[in-house]
Amino acid sequence: MARQRILSGVQPTGNLHLGNYLGAIRNWVETQSQYENYFCVVDLHAITVPHNPATLAEDTYTIAALYLACGIDLNYSTIFIQSHIPAHSELTWLFNCITPMNWLTDMIQFKEKSVKQGENVGVGLLDYPVLMAADILLYKADQVPVGEDQKQHLELTRDIVNRFNHQFGEVLKLPHPMIRKEGARVMSLTDGTKKMSKSDPSELSRINLLDSADEISKKVKRCKTDPIKGLSFDVPERPECQNLLTLYMLLSGKTKEAVAAECQDMGWGQFKPLFTETVISALQPIQQKYQEVRADKTYLESVLREGREKAAAIANQTLAEVKAAMGYSVPL
Ligand code: TRP
Repeated sequence: MARQRILSGVQPTGNLHLGNYLGAIRNWVETQSQYENYFCVVDLHAITVPHNPATLAEDTYTIAALYLACGIDLNYSTIFIQSHIPAHSELTWLFNCITPMNWLTDMIQFKEKSVKQGENVGVGLLDYPVLMAADILLYKADQVPVGEDQKQHLELTRDIVNRFNHQFGEVLKLPHPMIRKEGARVMSLTDGTKKMSKSDPSELSRINLLDSADEISKKVKRCKTDPIKGLSFDVPERPECQNLLTLYMLLSGKTKEAVAAECQDMGWGQFKPLFTETVISALQPIQQKYQEVRADKTYLESVLREGREKAAAIANQTLAEVKAAMGYSVPL
């Protein structure tokens, strides 16, 4: 039987942090040999809020290089850049015309982000989930690994499939969200009740994959803890403790039981240096690979060219089927 197809993407807004890695990319790497995988850098999504044209291209390459550095293997996976394939924009337009406005105005992420943008909310921010639906449906993906916060966008994608197929015939494939519990929610270092996020104004709230050992050590020293001695999992009043022990478990590769036993009598003064060392040595191989990839621009460009060719062949085929179903005069 053919392997199921996976598609996912990350926005090129700055550096990736531990939440992106543990919640997404690390899981992609773990399961990649069982699937046919497509991983894109969604640079068209990046301009749905004000962006910096001077860094967009470099930020996009950074994410592509980090995919490779984190262990995405080209034997199983295709890496490409969303804007290199015009079919994403074109399918978005076609979907726009069959998507009811209120499906978009009702989206939680749109409401949250548009409040932050004040008066400067572009139409693109409203349309963000339709572009995401186009990303997924162009590749007829079976499974879409995403974080919990993207579940509603996946629901909208499924709604678009049902509406399109009902109106124009069975062309689109219904995708399934693939949401992992473990590591799915990495929390902020400065507030254990908030998600670690790129948009948090405080750099101290997150550890980036490319942070130096000094930066990591500084962030861990300053991270929020509590005055209780003895560290344990699953105490609702200790969100920071839960987060740091979970990070320690995931990055050290130890089991939950082993970490619980090791840390039950520790104070923070003992845990923090151990944790710092664990983070630094877990990120070291990723950073080294990243530097290697970044030093060889020709290589990265060839990876992205091949990725674009492979992805475009599939995307253009689906786009042609969609247009034909909608009544356009396209040769199949
Ligand atoms: N919206 C996703 C996020 O912020 C990124 C994304 C864009 C995506 N297109 C996608 C994820 C397609 C999965 C599939 O995480």
